Amino acid sequence: MIKRGDEVTLRLEGAAVEGKCIARMDGLVVFVRGGVPGDTARVCITKVKKQFLEADFRTLEQPSPDRVQARCRYFGVCGGCTWQELHYDAQLQSKRRSVVDALERIGGLVGVEVLPAAAAADIYWYRNKMEFSFGERWLTVEEMARVADELNGEQSRLALGLHLPGRFDKVLDVEECWLQSEASVRIVNATRRFALAAGLNVHSTRTHEGYLRNLVIREGRRTGERMVNLVTFDDRPDVMAAYTETLLAEVPEVSTVVNNITERKSQVALGDVEKVYHGPGSITEKIGGRTYRISANSFFQTNTAQAERLYDVAAEMAALTGSETVYDLYSGTGTIALHLAGLAREVIGIETVPQAIEDAKSNAAFNSVPNCTFLLGDLKERLTRDTAWTAHHSAPDVVVIDPPRSGMHEAVARQVLHMGARRIVYVSCNPATQARDLKILVSTGRYRVNRAQPVDMFPHTSHVENVALLEAAG
Ligand SMILES: C[S@@+](CC[C@H](N)C(=O)[O-])C[C@H]1O[C@@H](n2cnc3c(N)ncnc32)[C@H](O)[C@@H]1O
Repeated sequence: MIKRGDEVTLRLEGAAVEGKCIARMDGLVVFVRGGVPGDTARVCITKVKKQFLEADFRTLEQPSPDRVQARCRYFGVCGGCTWQELHYDAQLQSKRRSVVDALERIGGLVGVEVLPAAAAADIYWYRNKMEFSFGERWLTVEEMARVADELNGEQSRLALGLHLPGRFDKVLDVEECWLQSEASVRIVNATRRFALAAGLNVHSTRTHEGYLRNLVIREGRRTGERMVNLVTFDDRPDVMAAYTETLLAEVPEVSTVVNNITERKSQVALGDVEKVYHGPGSITEKIGGRTYRISANSFFQTNTAQAERLYDVAAEMAALTGSETVYDLYSGTGTIALHLAGLAREVIGIETVPQAIEDAKSNAAFNSVPNCTFLLGDLKERLTRDTAWTAHHSAPDVVVIDPPRSGMHEAVARQVLHMGARRIVYVSCNPATQARDLKILVSTGRYRVNRAQPVDMFPHTSHVENVALLEAAG
């Protein structure tokens, strides 16, 4: 009988959810953390259940042909990337396969044309936003030796970096990161140096004391603008003024510095109060010829180039001719609506977060787009009870849907079926909930899923965005 702690040799057959590998043993599925599909590896069993096992990768016995050298020295410890050791082509194939599997197994949709995943041109330094955390220093064994030397044996208690996977109490101090940019790395290191020199302490959610919480860096990849947002527990204007001066001297590419202040108990990097210490307090970014103003707490897709790709796929599937009414459901800050506005007669966006609606309206005004209307409200209400707005707008020719990871409420999916649109374009960051919702959308026989296009927004992770096109029969 296999038990927890046993070590066995397995061949890792494929990719599973959350970047894990899948293997088989004694007729059971084993989810392995670490390794890449195609490896033969020694693994240690960590969980034994009736239907499946879980294991951690220990040592490599036979490398997969898809194995490559990870670029980052923190790979395997840090929670940021899980697939740096898997060749990028194999990552893309895995992502496409996860879409096909979800469509078939969850949606019962066999034979849908799923195109190859659209690759990112930049597989490193692709993010326009990074959120680093302050924490008490946590080091790997190897690092402990190196850093202890550097610090002459004195252990600092301040770390600035990323949380270890699943450990909200442990922060890995990072001096390099390949996710955002070279300037972002300099900002992290300059901030850490300043915090240490000024003797600043880290906020603890346990004791509810300490000043430093998060460092959020946002970049306009197409404008070169760069925002540094230091999230702190309390308001210390002298510290912020000194920090701003030091930072600008060391990283002149920073165009604005803001301080979000929050006494909240949770670890969300959101301020209740915001103070601007340098520049306009916001940055701009460009997607598809539109310019978006992004403030410290506004939502914006984190991979600019691939977001544009995603919206282009949605536009291509929507096949607009200029005469259509489009409904953009779950419209967020209006980026999809604005991307389609020039191709349609009218676009109506519906979204539940008031700030997102405000941002969407100001983005429309900023870009002089006259034919977008943004409505605030829960879609379930807006499509069922609270429908007076439908008297002022035509029924949709095309419906675009971009829900959160949890997918659509069943009542919303059923209501969409009654709208009579010719085409439905479903953008999703979770193929499993998308497949579940598509099953409802095809249930009456009126619509068919004709095509799907996965888009890779997050290289080196198992996340995949997928756009599906439903067309009305006849
Ligand atoms: C994946 S985001 C889409 C953002 C937008 N399409 C974009 O590309 O920037 C999902 C959005 O759905 C909104 N949302 C979640 N539940 C909702 C609901 N029940 N009714 C309306 N909007 C909702 C969220 O606030 C979020 O802005």
